[in-house]
Amino acid sequence: MNPDLSLLQPYPFEKLRRLFEGITPPAALKPIRLSIGEPRHPAPTFIGETLAASLAGLALYPGTQGTPELRTAISAWLSRRYALPTIDPARQVLPVNGTREALFAIAQCVVDRSRAGAKVVCPNPFYQIYEGAALLAGAEPVFINNLPADGFTSDFSAIPPATWREVQLVYVCSPGNPTGRVLRLDEWKTLFELSDRYDFVIAADECYAELYFDDAAPPLGALEAAQQLGRDDYRNLVAFFSLSKRSNVPGLRSGFVAGDAGILQNFLLYRTYQGCQMSPVVQAASAAAWQDEAHVRENRRLYRDKFARITPLLAPHLGVAVPDAGFYLWAQTPSTLSDTDFARRLQTEYNVTLLPGSFLAREANGINPGNGFVRIALVDGMDECVEAAERIIALCQKL
Ligand SMILES: Cc1ncc(COP(=O)(O)O)c(C=O)c1O
Repeated sequence: MNPDLSLLQPYPFEKLRRLFEGITPPAALKPIRLSIGEPRHPAPTFIGETLAASLAGLALYPGTQGTPELRTAISAWLSRRYALPTIDPARQVLPVNGTREALFAIAQCVVDRSRAGAKVVCPNPFYQIYEGAALLAGAEPVFINNLPADGFTSDFSAIPPATWREVQLVYVCSPGNPTGRVLRLDEWKTLFELSDRYDFVIAADECYAELYFDDAAPPLGALEAAQQLGRDDYRNLVAFFSLSKRSNVPGLRSGFVAGDAGILQNFLLYRTYQGCQMSPVVQAASAAAWQDEAHVRENRRLYRDKFARITPLLAPHLGVAVPDAGFYLWAQTPSTLSDTDFARRLQTEYNVTLLPGSFLAREANGINPGNGFVRIALVDGMDECVEAAERIIALCQKL
């Protein structure tokens, strides 16, 4: 067996299962599960209809690079969304089966194991795939704590030059899971300059990029930042996008990677061997989804209404604020209870499931930055989210 497998931690939901072992929540209260970031708004019907109309594609082996129709639809979306004039659908876009597999695969493609001390930088707290990808690529994860005192920024200047020299890949998550924070242009500038100096690849995970609150002010993207800073070859940058949250189709398994053509050429080679082509049926539905914005605006409206209603309810009881974007509230629990105890009591007494923040982070510089936080995914309907907020408040009032 690959010995690096033993380095992998149990996934947060496995930790949650263990935390709740032996608990019988009150049967009279309907369970409300806001722990997993699984979108539950209805998927647009036209996506299902396109899938059904494309079933002839089941008779074909798909190419790894994807159809020109899909790549063109994606590059047109990128140009519209980020005002990018220069995305070449043939060389700068690659469809992937959801960003999870691609975020894992990029580390396997990028990391050079023959260089001593290979390191991969991750935010902390973070989407768990980054760590597993680094470890299985033979690299050591380096965590940058995202703390409330700094507005959940990643302080890249805290990493010493000796460490940067060994860094081969940096994962950035903007909008962040779980903090919801969006990187500013000056932060991208700092990171691009570091990448030029130390020659590492930036993997920008932007799977929440379409969930924001003001239709007139979409969050800045990594490719957009590069473009604004005159880096129109997107050198050393690849950005990851998904239909899962944008279009409420996590089961479709569809996303794409875009950016540096040289990296994508190598990534295509890697993916040819990994054998992860996207079904032609899914490609057809994905092309249709990237071409439609009406359902995405409606999706945003549903989240906007929930954040507007739930955040003020919780704010007197938990440290909580509307994030820059995304669908999570990253909430500070009352100081009398740890995040795990808070989640356990909420489950035991109120049948509401949240994810303890410490499960999403690692100890770095003596701190687990998830301690004392819970992640509340506002994925359920408005009524369920309000009901959950009322039960959370009832627990807080008991403390
Ligand atoms: C930050 C982040 N990146 C990537 C993913 C993976 O999404 P998908 O594989 O559905 O595109 C998720 C899923 O929850 C996520 O939270």
